[in-house]
Amino acid sequence: MVILGIETSCDETSAAVLLKEGNRITILSNVTASSAELQAKYGGIIPEQAAREQLKSIIPVIETAINDSDLVIKEIDAIAVTQGPGLIGSLLIGVETAKTLSYVWNKPLIPVNHLLGHLYANWIDSNSQPQALNNALSFQPPSFPLLGLLVSGGHTDLVYFKDHMDYLYLGGTRDDAAGECFDKCARLIGFSYPGGPAIAQSAMEFKTQNSKFKIELPRPLLNNDTFDFSFSGLKTAVAREVDNLKKLKQWNKNTQKHLSYEIQEAIIEVLVEKTITAAKKYNVKQLIVAGGVAANKRLSDELKIKSDKLGIKLHIPKPVLCTDNGAMIASVAFFLKPIDNLKDLQANPNLSLENENVAGQLR
Ligand code: KG4
Ligand code: ZN
Repeated sequence: MVILGIETSCDETSAAVLLKEGNRITILSNVTASSAELQAKYGGIIPEQAAREQLKSIIPVIETAINDSDLVIKEIDAIAVTQGPGLIGSLLIGVETAKTLSYVWNKPLIPVNHLLGHLYANWIDSNSQPQALNNALSFQPPSFPLLGLLVSGGHTDLVYFKDHMDYLYLGGTRDDAAGECFDKCARLIGFSYPGGPAIAQSAMEFKTQNSKFKIELPRPLLNNDTFDFSFSGLKTAVAREVDNLKKLKQWNKNTQKHLSYEIQEAIIEVLVEKTITAAKKYNVKQLIVAGGVAANKRLSDELKIKSDKLGIKLHIPKPVLCTDNGAMIASVAFFLKPIDNLKDLQANPNLSLENENVAGQLR
């Protein structure tokens, strides 16, 4: 089965063609146009501008994805599109384009929850070529039951999956998401959007032994016995540290690196501790991590150490499949039923994993 996946929830316009042979999902093409550079100039995303960029990119991106796949339209079995959550203007471009293509090409249409899309990037065998069956043996897709940690710019969620589309929402952020915290703290310490990679890079350059200062940031809700997160207090603490250092005339490249290091440590410690506590409580032997922040090396290293100790198999997609992309949307769609009527599909900016019936119906 071949699915064209379309993703336009935020500032990335992406389309991908994926193939499923038996249990194996591979990428034939995955094309992304990002307006992140433009957003960086303004220090964050301006929704109207993101939607305008989506409109400019959507057709060329889909065309390139189909060309790159070496398939013709006739060989595509279905179209999948992000229904939500996201920015309404951006979502509408993808949803309306997908509906139109579904009608004109006479292909089934499968709406996808973007958050599940992130998690299902873990089902993609991205290391071997399609049809390269000898390589395929090395890839093991996640198996149930499993724990999912979704850490993106808009979401921080812990979800226990009994099976495909059968899950229990354990907790999420009460305020800022982990990625949002990276982005807001980055801005406070002088980096542009997206802040996660900038902080990760700067933190790597920090040498603990060179530090003259003690900077201690809070670990919000670390010892609270829910699986909820809260990151907004961290940004306030960072603002205070920057003010202090400026008052002491000690705000410079070194203290910026030091603060980057402490911000990353604080966010990662909370994410890792809560995730491992949930994995123990639900006794899972498989952990899937996804979303833009899953591209963070410190997070993957820490999770690997802790999950290895517990005999838990850790799955994290390649960095390009952690940030928004069309491939992850097609990946979920292999497990879902298409809608019966195009009129039934509306973009939904508030879709989450918390409510029932947001995952779509199993195929
Ligand atoms: O999943 P994503 O591409 O978009 C959303 O659906 O939100 O995630 C984007 C987020 C941004 O907040 C960005 O700063 C963060 O992922 N991010 C990272 C890293 N790469 C991207 N955060 C920490 N470390 C990274 N290496
Ligand atoms: Zn996303």
